[in-house]
Amino acid sequence: MSLFHKKSSTDSLNNAVKLITVAHPNSPISEQFRTIRTNIHFAGVDQELKTIAFSSANQSEGKSTVTANVAVTWALEGKKVLFIDADLRRPTIHQTFGLNNNHGLTTILSSKADSIELTDYIKPSGIDHLSLITSGPIPPNPSELLGSDRMTTLIKNVSQAFDLVVIDVPPILEVPDTQVLSAHLDGLVLVVREGQTRKAAISRAVDVLKISKTRILGFVLNDHNAKDAGYGYGYGYGYKAEQGSK
Ligand SMILES: Nc1ncnc2c1ncn2[C@@H]1O[C@H](COP(=O)(O)OP(=O)(O)OP(=O)(O)O)[C@@H](O)[C@H]1O
Ligand SMILES: [Mg+2]
Repeated sequence: MSLFHKKSSTDSLNNAVKLITVAHPNSPISEQFRTIRTNIHFAGVDQELKTIAFSSANQSEGKSTVTANVAVTWALEGKKVLFIDADLRRPTIHQTFGLNNNHGLTTILSSKADSIELTDYIKPSGIDHLSLITSGPIPPNPSELLGSDRMTTLIKNVSQAFDLVVIDVPPILEVPDTQVLSAHLDGLVLVVREGQTRKAAISRAVDVLKISKTRILGFVLNDHNAKDAGYGYGYGYGYKAEQGSK
């Protein structure tokens, strides 16, 4: 059975993403995820990076796959990582890690309680050092929730309790959710899918992020040279830190 296969653009709604860093930690692809991790680390030499989102211009460009695998590589390195599913429109973390999604981020954000016991919502992933907050039930008002003071407070609190908070967020050009959240984070990595993401879309996404004063940490090129890479699964990742992106 093949580990990876191409799917239609809506598949990520109903399917877990593939954790190759767990299934094949010594594969060249897992090595590339470790390179991405290292390059993000270098992007943060001047300023500590604790809260990092991964997004893309449009949907189905590989955000969730890249985010989940990079989060795993950080955890395998021994960092205490919290992985939050803030893609409240097309969430995947619960399926990737086989968890129920009856409560999660949306439950925390929509609660009227003055204080919430976060440990009730932070779930173990089954991987050492990696904890999860799943999306929770899909709400009618995702951007309102992600832009709320409650979300900013949550990010602040969890960033004190974890070494790294990694966040899967919706595509930049399709909904305002990422824009309202990303300025409160230490940085954002843009996932670009070779052969799919148009240059104009990348450039518009960068403009939108600049307007919202988001620090762009760099780009992950997903599906890069899939045929030439010879890795069998058609996966390839490249990473290039953008100069003067802020
Ligand atoms: N390099 C790749 N090669 C083959 N398939 C890939 C690659 N990257 C992602 N995929 C597949 O493409 C689909 C979309 O990937 P993923 O769910 O990671 O994207 P996404 O940007 O999070 O999508 P969404 O916008 O729905 O949240 C998934 O089925 C995933 O397995
Ligand atoms: Mg996704």
